[in-house]
Amino acid sequence: MFRAVYKLKQEAGVESFMNYVTFNEQSMVFTLRTEHTMYQMQVRQFGILCHLYYGPFLGEDELDYRIIELDRGFSPNPYEADRDRTISLDILPQEYSGYGNGDYRVCAAEVDFQDGSAALDLRYQGYEVLKGKYKLPGMPAMFGDDTQAETLEIRLADEYSGANAVLMFGIFPKLDLITRAVRFENLGDRSYRLRKVMSAQLDFLDGPFELIHFHGRHTMERMPERLPLMHGMARFGSRRGTSSHQHNPFAILCRPDTTEERGLCYGLSLVYSGNFLFEAEVDQMNQVRVMMGIHPAHFWQEVQCGDVFYTPEIIMGCSEDGLTGLSHLFHDGMRQNLMRGKYVFSPRPVLINNWEATYFTFDEEKIFSIAEKALDLGVDLFVLDDGWFGKRDSDFSGLGDWTVNEEKIRGGLKNLSERIRSLGLKLGLWIEPEMVSEDSNLYREHPDWCLRVPGRLPVRGRYQLNLDITRQEVRDHVMEQIISLIEECHISYIKWDMNRSLGNVYSSVLIPQKQGEVFHRYVLALYEMQESLITRFPDLLFENCSGGGGRFDAGMLYYSPQIWCSDNTDAVDRLRIQYGTSFGYPITSMGAHVSAVPNHQTGRSVSIRTRSVVASCGTYGFELDPEKMTKEEMQEARKGLEEYKATENLRLCGDFYRLSNPFMNQDFCLWQFVSKEKKETLVEGVILRHQANSPVFYVYLRGLKADARYQRTDTGRVYSGAALMKAGLPLPLELGEYQPVRMIFREIP
Ligand code: GLA
Repeated sequence: MFRAVYKLKQEAGVESFMNYVTFNEQSMVFTLRTEHTMYQMQVRQFGILCHLYYGPFLGEDELDYRIIELDRGFSPNPYEADRDRTISLDILPQEYSGYGNGDYRVCAAEVDFQDGSAALDLRYQGYEVLKGKYKLPGMPAMFGDDTQAETLEIRLADEYSGANAVLMFGIFPKLDLITRAVRFENLGDRSYRLRKVMSAQLDFLDGPFELIHFHGRHTMERMPERLPLMHGMARFGSRRGTSSHQHNPFAILCRPDTTEERGLCYGLSLVYSGNFLFEAEVDQMNQVRVMMGIHPAHFWQEVQCGDVFYTPEIIMGCSEDGLTGLSHLFHDGMRQNLMRGKYVFSPRPVLINNWEATYFTFDEEKIFSIAEKALDLGVDLFVLDDGWFGKRDSDFSGLGDWTVNEEKIRGGLKNLSERIRSLGLKLGLWIEPEMVSEDSNLYREHPDWCLRVPGRLPVRGRYQLNLDITRQEVRDHVMEQIISLIEECHISYIKWDMNRSLGNVYSSVLIPQKQGEVFHRYVLALYEMQESLITRFPDLLFENCSGGGGRFDAGMLYYSPQIWCSDNTDAVDRLRIQYGTSFGYPITSMGAHVSAVPNHQTGRSVSIRTRSVVASCGTYGFELDPEKMTKEEMQEARKGLEEYKATENLRLCGDFYRLSNPFMNQDFCLWQFVSKEKKETLVEGVILRHQANSPVFYVYLRGLKADARYQRTDTGRVYSGAALMKAGLPLPLELGEYQPVRMIFREIP
């Protein structure tokens, strides 16, 4: 028997309400069930909480037989094991590992104590099952009421210090998702410092696994890369204060034979928008340990006696239906129980944004005439991008002064808003609330309001500094200006941008012992600002952005149903960016615009129809000067928008399939939407190259009912679902590069 006082705190009647969490008191096995998956843990000797299984649903089996305890050289044993050398934390698969306890693998939590010691040995104390989904104060997380979710909390404690780690599991049976987070509590009599605190750990008894992660750069985000996990470590993350363009906090683990269509895979999505770290270690016994959480670089958190610290949440999914099946879990889960507001499942206003049309050079007449002309495109909303405020004639000045630049917008923003709205359009506004330019009134009045390391010159990024939004007065100052603008000018849409990585990370109002909290406090402050905005303006359409997709993560999706996917609007590059993004995020969360040619990022020219098809695989908008478009282009653009709108419901609510991989297939990039009832499907994409005397390319549809009959809407031809899926469909052989493809099929009786 282990030492800790073991107390059951199970709620009365737990068995009867959902029963997706069960605990076998004899075997001490916890089983979490979703419709198709199962997660199992066991409290073993000495209160060691071991991980038994996560994978496809298996029925009633308890899988403790999978753990084989053997004496392994140089893998030490807990003192309580006495002469038994077969028990070692260095070998046992665990739910949440500490440090300095004989486990030499990468660990989930590291703590420094006042006496200079750094050991943490977490042992089981008890559990609690709660109705509904747990919440994380001040942080984004999946939500679920009693009918949608159940919570299991398992308390682990380090007997010597009073450090408690409560592992929280959110079980979403219908969504086939399990969320995890950890609550650290200090129940001891001395404060301690968390140095590393991962949100979840997953220990697999056997490999092999491959890792798919999504790296990138500004204007080329979320490029998938697949590599085998080897002995030793695989790590990626962000230390930029945002989740970053360079790495995304979403990762997939899969078996080497897993494909789009079949095979076992796991997804981990961190619901957090700041520094993060993903780690995977293959150990000496070929076991695999995976974890993700706040990046420990420049992080520490003081936990005083009685204090509580919550980690961000991880959403975990497991599918046997390949990468497509896994994407569907995340798409559905995020749309249904993470993203909020009236726009998640309803048509979004189609916008035109003036950034690439004007950059900083415009006045109110130019803006008005773009809006007026855009009416012919069929848009609903005009978005006034960067440059409308302060002394913002270039990116050297003005950030922080959220009052209209009357030299550019003569007559003021309220007046311009009235004019634009009199056209029947809504008005949207770009803001960058987390920043300050040195050449701004805000900086001149409050030079101490930015992050700044004392005694050092600051590092600049896009010639701007990060405001210290961890300070309440800074947040209040910015938000007051923004709120009054929204109210006075009847703003219907906000694009919240963030155009540099955090630097000079030091807050002048925090004591030295708390400087390690600044990165995380920054993210919490951001969440507080965005929460206050959407609470105050529930009808606002809100889009996040960070130089395009530099903060494209599940955390941001809790606040805004769409995120500007990339500053790269080139339709061909976008095929790859949107393809990569689609693995972990719903299609309608990706802001996608039709822009001018030659494209401003690549110099490439493709037809307006192709640009329109690519923008349709996202939240549709325009970012060009309609005054410079020919009549034919305007007509094509309008037609493209109408076609998008005609199928918008399918895009918002349907299932998405990647039909080809644009990193492997040089010939075409195609995707497909299928309605949930499989009555309607849309195939779209682009033929990537055209060769003389070209062979015929065939596309194989997916997700249809094999025995149903589907009619193609433009030709009237009828096909069986089986034929479309198994015999394939020849693609059109039109001349010219980057030809668009769009085909709709509807089930007929
Ligand atoms: C960022 C955004 C762009 C645009 C500019 C304005 O780069 O991603 O869409 O708003 O800022 O400065």
